[in-house]
Amino acid sequence: MKIISSRNRHLPKDVLDNYVDAFLKRRELFLKSADRFGAPQYFFDAPAFALQIASFKEAFSRHLDKCRIFYAMKSNHFIGICRKAVSEGLGLDVSGGVELSKALDLACKQIVFSGPGKTDDELRYVVQNRDRVTLLMDSFGELRRVSNILKKNAIGNNGPLKAGVRIQQQNQWSKFGIPLKHLPNFLKEAGDSPGLALFGIQFHTSWNLDPSAQVHMIHRIGEVIQNKIPSDLRKAFRFLDIGGGFWPEQGEWLNPQNTMKGRILEILNPEYRRKKSHYYLRGRPIDFFAKKIGEAIQQQGPPLSDLEIYLEPGRWVSTPAMHILLKIIDKKDDKTIITDGGINLLGWERPLTEYIPLINVSRPSLKERSVKVYGSLCTPHDIWGMSVFGETVKEGDILLVPDQGAYTYSLRQSFIKPIAKVVQYDEKGIHEVIKENVY
Ligand SMILES: Cc1ncc(COP(=O)(O)O)c(C=O)c1O
Repeated sequence: MKIISSRNRHLPKDVLDNYVDAFLKRRELFLKSADRFGAPQYFFDAPAFALQIASFKEAFSRHLDKCRIFYAMKSNHFIGICRKAVSEGLGLDVSGGVELSKALDLACKQIVFSGPGKTDDELRYVVQNRDRVTLLMDSFGELRRVSNILKKNAIGNNGPLKAGVRIQQQNQWSKFGIPLKHLPNFLKEAGDSPGLALFGIQFHTSWNLDPSAQVHMIHRIGEVIQNKIPSDLRKAFRFLDIGGGFWPEQGEWLNPQNTMKGRILEILNPEYRRKKSHYYLRGRPIDFFAKKIGEAIQQQGPPLSDLEIYLEPGRWVSTPAMHILLKIIDKKDDKTIITDGGINLLGWERPLTEYIPLINVSRPSLKERSVKVYGSLCTPHDIWGMSVFGETVKEGDILLVPDQGAYTYSLRQSFIKPIAKVVQYDEKGIHEVIKENVY
């Protein structure tokens, strides 16, 4: 019980209040956007995204000698976000042919293509665009398929296909990459494939509240490179790609039913769910990640410390890049309201797991009131939350669902109601993005 309570801490009220207050300070902007473009809407907050990219870059350039950042498009593939990432000097990390086509259309010059289950069409597409794309291979099968494709293509002016190989994190993640012990054989086989230049190693660990998983992988890979890879093969390495998986510093905010303690309390008292108790798992600042990763690489020494470090952040940079605006369409009673957008805007039942503060920007207050906030879909699981920050709630009020940039827009579903429009807020003000896929 002690372990449970120490992992799942109560979210401190001042942390929550400061968080909500920062959005209330910008309420006029959100109200103006809802008034001009209607609800529901995705609100792309370009300045917030740019700031996040700048903080990420700054942290890693402070602790690493050479690094390159690729924005993981899967976390939010809205074209305005991807365009902004490129204009801020980032490369793009793509995981499928559609993402690759968008990245190429954006004239992005640095692209990594990673992910399991790449099709032959996707591999051919990579080969055709090898002047801009580095292939991060996921298996021996993929290596053989791409080698066959390369055999049929003249190497020509674009030179060989630049590639890396992904290393498996642990056995339960066997879906991704190759086991580390197979790296020497993989390098040998890749070396025998004409037209392929394998010069990097990749790993990715997910949902890291702190850098321990990344540090562990750096040491594992460093030791194998030192002890098991012949020096002539080692010389070929140019980069180590440490993937993404950086959890935002605010940590993971949870509803009581998603903590062990909350579940037990709810069994004892079913009304517990309605109490406004929020939990969180602590996250570490990005500078701490950068520092520990930098130290681990230095500790390994050459050749690892001579490599350029590639990073593929998604969630960390895209979380504050997009918010959702909803309108209260129906107030059934003081404790039950319906909004004009369902959680299909998020693509998954995120509010059932995570605590997301809902902010009534029409009637601002730091008071959190108990009220069930449902979406408009015909399912009881379509619920945004059990409380709202605001003086009260009335029909026509605008609710802000903040920081919904990561793994929501990309996963959004068309179900019953049309997909919401995107409004972009940037140096030109607020404007609706009508044709998202035209640039
Ligand atoms: C290979 C790879 N890189 C980067 C990312 C982005 O991860 P995150 O959004 O957690 O930073 C993912 C996410 O699944 C991934 O699989």
